[in-house]
Amino acid sequence: MAEVTKWDAVAYESVASDVQLAWGRKLLERRTWKGDESVLDAGCGPGALTEDILAKVPRGRVQAVDRDPSMAERARTRLARFGARVKVIEADLLHLEGVEPVDVIVSNAVLHWIEDHDAVLETFVHHLKPGGQVLIQCGGEGNLERARAVAEEILAAAEFAKHFRGWKPPWHYEDDASTQERLFIAGFMDPKVSLEPAPTRFADRTAFEKFVRAVVLLPYLQALPDENSRERFVGRFVARVEASGEGFVLDYVRLNVSAFRSPHG
Ligand SMILES: C[S@@+](CC[C@H](N)C(=O)[O-])C[C@H]1O[C@@H](n2cnc3c(N)ncnc32)[C@H](O)[C@@H]1O
Repeated sequence: MAEVTKWDAVAYESVASDVQLAWGRKLLERRTWKGDESVLDAGCGPGALTEDILAKVPRGRVQAVDRDPSMAERARTRLARFGARVKVIEADLLHLEGVEPVDVIVSNAVLHWIEDHDAVLETFVHHLKPGGQVLIQCGGEGNLERARAVAEEILAAAEFAKHFRGWKPPWHYEDDASTQERLFIAGFMDPKVSLEPAPTRFADRTAFEKFVRAVVLLPYLQALPDENSRERFVGRFVARVEASGEGFVLDYVRLNVSAFRSPHG
């Protein structure tokens, strides 16, 4: 099994607003909100999108769940001003004991970090009220193929290879057809699933380097023993992308999902 990725919430928050938060805002637009829904933000990270969810449900409540201690702590601080309308829970999405059933589950940029999609969809359907909706956006088939190929070339070099013996990438990028089938099996109705290329261009080397260090390269960097080797790894990655002549672009592909639990339970 892959190692659990440890996040630095502040570093993530400082780079995610133009990328993950923008995807999340688009995801929220896929529902006509009534304003009084109860919502589960599944994998809330530092709580930036949770704030947008709270704005969509001025008479509703949000349970924001993340398993990462740094993310959960940052979300708690960030969301404190919403008082009893929000509850931050540090927990694994596959073990949601104590989480109340909700009208809507929102999960943005999370599911590709979870190996067992059958299990997570089963958990989601179980935590939705009858008639409730799940809205998911995550990495899909082909996500970051080019970026990962560059990273894997670097990790195969003699200097790094010894640290990656037995290392497994933590990501699981699903395709649309399998996800549709999986949703039906889990008991969802009316699934809408699509794959969407989302190439993301960064203004310059500095912005690109900061972003890949905080997000895309995180699992690789955690396999390395010290800051020196991490610096070298990031430096080589950025240099190779620059040398490609295609600019500082990440070849993101996103999987978008909307589905409902049957109103009859
Ligand atoms: C890229 S961040 C996305 C955060 C936030 N949803 C956003 O839109 O910015 C992925 C988050 O998913 C969380 N995560 C991954 N697997 C999880 C699991 N099994 N249970 C709970 N949280 C998980 C990570 O801890 C991390 O905070």
